[in-house]
Amino acid sequence: MSWWWRCLRTAVRHAVLEQARNRLALALVVFFVPLWLWLAYRVLPDTPVRFFLRAAGHPVSTGANTVTQLSGALHSIALIVGFMMFLATSRSTEFDRRLVTAGFPKVCLLLAKNTVLLLSAVLTGSYATVWLCFFWRPERLDVMVAAFAGGALTYGGAGILLAAVLRSELAGMFLVIMVSFVDLGLQNPVANPAADSPLLRGLPAYGAMQSAVSASTGTLTPWHQLLLSGCWAVALAMAGPLVLTLRGGRWRGTLTLLKRPGGATGTGRNAAWRLRHPVLSLIYRRAGITDPALVTGYEACRRLVRSSGPMEIAFTQLISARVRPLFWAMYGYVRVIDDLSDDTGDGDQDRAARVSAFSLALEADLRQGRSSDPVRGALVHAVWTWNLSSEGLASANAVFRMDAARQTEFANWDEWHTYWDTLAFPFDVSRPTALLGAPGLFLAPRDAEALRRWNHAFNLIDCLGDLHQDAENGCIKLPATVLGQYGVTAEDLRLKQPGAQFATMVHALAGQAREWLGQAASIGAQHPPVAVAFRTLVELQHLELRRIERNPQALLDGRRPPHPVRFQYTLLRGRLRVARAWQRHRPTGSVTTAVLPAPRPAAADHGPRTSQALLPPAPHPGGAVPPALSGRRMPQHVAIIMDGNGRWAEAQGQVRSAGHHAGQHALRDVIYGALEIGLPCLSVYAFSTENWARPAADIETVLSVVSSGLDMNTEELWRRDVQLRWSGSTDDGRLPAELVDRIHRTTRATRERTGLILNVCLNYGGRHELAHAARALARQAAHGGLDPDRITPRHLARHLYQPDLPDVDLLIRTSGEQRTSNFLPWQSTCAEYLFLDPLWPDIDRTHLWAAISTYATRDRRLGTTK
Ligand code: FPP
Repeated sequence: MSWWWRCLRTAVRHAVLEQARNRLALALVVFFVPLWLWLAYRVLPDTPVRFFLRAAGHPVSTGANTVTQLSGALHSIALIVGFMMFLATSRSTEFDRRLVTAGFPKVCLLLAKNTVLLLSAVLTGSYATVWLCFFWRPERLDVMVAAFAGGALTYGGAGILLAAVLRSELAGMFLVIMVSFVDLGLQNPVANPAADSPLLRGLPAYGAMQSAVSASTGTLTPWHQLLLSGCWAVALAMAGPLVLTLRGGRWRGTLTLLKRPGGATGTGRNAAWRLRHPVLSLIYRRAGITDPALVTGYEACRRLVRSSGPMEIAFTQLISARVRPLFWAMYGYVRVIDDLSDDTGDGDQDRAARVSAFSLALEADLRQGRSSDPVRGALVHAVWTWNLSSEGLASANAVFRMDAARQTEFANWDEWHTYWDTLAFPFDVSRPTALLGAPGLFLAPRDAEALRRWNHAFNLIDCLGDLHQDAENGCIKLPATVLGQYGVTAEDLRLKQPGAQFATMVHALAGQAREWLGQAASIGAQHPPVAVAFRTLVELQHLELRRIERNPQALLDGRRPPHPVRFQYTLLRGRLRVARAWQRHRPTGSVTTAVLPAPRPAAADHGPRTSQALLPPAPHPGGAVPPALSGRRMPQHVAIIMDGNGRWAEAQGQVRSAGHHAGQHALRDVIYGALEIGLPCLSVYAFSTENWARPAADIETVLSVVSSGLDMNTEELWRRDVQLRWSGSTDDGRLPAELVDRIHRTTRATRERTGLILNVCLNYGGRHELAHAARALARQAAHGGLDPDRITPRHLARHLYQPDLPDVDLLIRTSGEQRTSNFLPWQSTCAEYLFLDPLWPDIDRTHLWAAISTYATRDRRLGTTK
């Protein structure tokens, strides 16, 4: 079945379900129509009245009761179908918006609406005709059905039209009643002796009423009247969707949810928008988002954040303004996916199809670098701009798809942790979260664990807050072990009869969330603005927990009273403190930011998981211990040019390869020293792009030493808390495939580690790295996602091989040489240089510690005055 048909089928099924849910309307059709026919027939006299039949061109005489039966039946059908369509249309606009966002053709939704309207009209028309036959038999049953259906179609179309222009259900109902009252009341000769006035011919139900009386009296087919009724029906049925489309928003969904702040022809509007939103416009400008289409997308995402919970809003308000658009885009995307996976009663398959369509469309958009959908467009732009990991995005998408195909349930806490670790921060949390640190600040790897804990607390609080909705959907997002422990079942929660232990369970879960919040207390400890932001968030979360504990039953009632003054006050105070902290810790000129590994997969325990399976660094053979250094003096990133292996070997009367092997031993010891002293990041120059000019045998030895050094099975270094990164040209095909494969395997296997980041520069050249970044920027500019005139160093830094690593603070070269040899030129702009005389194989961790101690004594003004 083609995609188009599948969409139509889904849309029709949804439209039918929407009608079927309107039980009142169904009951009215079933009971009220026959009741009316019976009452009118029995109560009114059958006194002949004169009715001018236009099809015959002369008046006919008909019983007062039968003509009232016809006008009343038409009236009730028109009212019921009109109101049914009004309600269904206004209630489904949100869902239609999601379908359109998921790539469903709008014409399918339009056809679905009209198909259901036609179906309802024919069914109610036939039903009324069948009942009519219990009292008297019309001459033409087919014309009678067509007459009733015509009236229903006309008012059904009016219902859609009213839904397009009105928001209030009461106003819609009132208008349908008033219009139909005037229309059909005036056409009944019993109520209005002047019912044949030519003035009335323009009324919507005129053709239907004429056709109904014609069907009751003669064999004549009232073509003109049927056509007139059909014209009204088609005109009104088309007018509703047309108005919805022209008005944009409610029908076309996020595609036009927001008016473009400008555009090719909207320069004036653009300026007006900027005037009305000076802060937002500044945020976008500073993030380099100037294209009006992109602003539209980011704005759509921002509004989705605003329509979410107070905690999400607080989160975005507390983080640095320069990364706020990134979070809006991420959140917007997750929200749309979440909306698409909502259970609308149309079955797992359709839900899965919607989510698949949207997430696969995003993956295609990412390849193209642009999107026709504003939310996806913003995300694609964010992925490019902030250089997010598409690997993380793909795995989050896979979870979303799985989620949509079946209800997610968690057997235990392990499954719960794994789920939120993958989902809560959709793509490789390291980069966006690292960006929280903002230039010049550094978020230490150990913060990753704290952040993970905070994320668990955030989601646990969220799950408690959503208990009411989840219970309605029959899917409780809490571990089954916990529910079992307290004897709470999903069904009990749905029925709001959770049993005596429910409150105890809520208290226990709140306690668990508090414990995790406690473990998250150290986030960004060294970086005041980040620390203040997280402290405020944690404070807000404690307030939320207190509220939950105070009234657990309210969780099931879905009552969400506005947040107390205390919450708003804490948030406001936190925002002011964050702003002040940023004032005092302005960026230093460094352009890269911070390090934070991705969230780790959950293990069986719930305590902090800092590398239990990993060994501590082997002690120094001479028993040396690291010097005590204050945190502020510790460099965040040391880079080493390991020079002198060949000379060392020659001095020992050995072949050069022996020097490289000895160099590998030296490196291992230095890495242990880095772990011991608490250095977060170490870059080593293992093989440069210039080294390809060496004799083949030397290249082979160096690469084989590196390869064995990266072998997780044999190299003891990888049993320590070290995370591997690779900087270097990946696509020139010069490195042996097995080596590249080994690098990737070790990188993947160690990505969760938080002790030390070892950045191995292999096949690395500083100029190649800058050319690589320039290519990425050029591609971005060519796709229209970046204005070339607004490119700043920050933009370029985002496309370095390892953009999230902090700038180099200290660059060391051994063997007495005093050159930098194309090594990390961008990152070392503000580095301290230290040239050591010993050859690299003679170096050990004590040299590193001495170098760090020297660094700690240097006066680093970074271009400023003291
Ligand atoms: C320069 O010495 C050193 C190298 C080009 C390679 C260094 C590589 C290692 C120590 C192994 C690294 C291993 C891992 C796992 C990263 P040179 O040959 O230029 O010495 P010379 O200047 O005395 O000739």
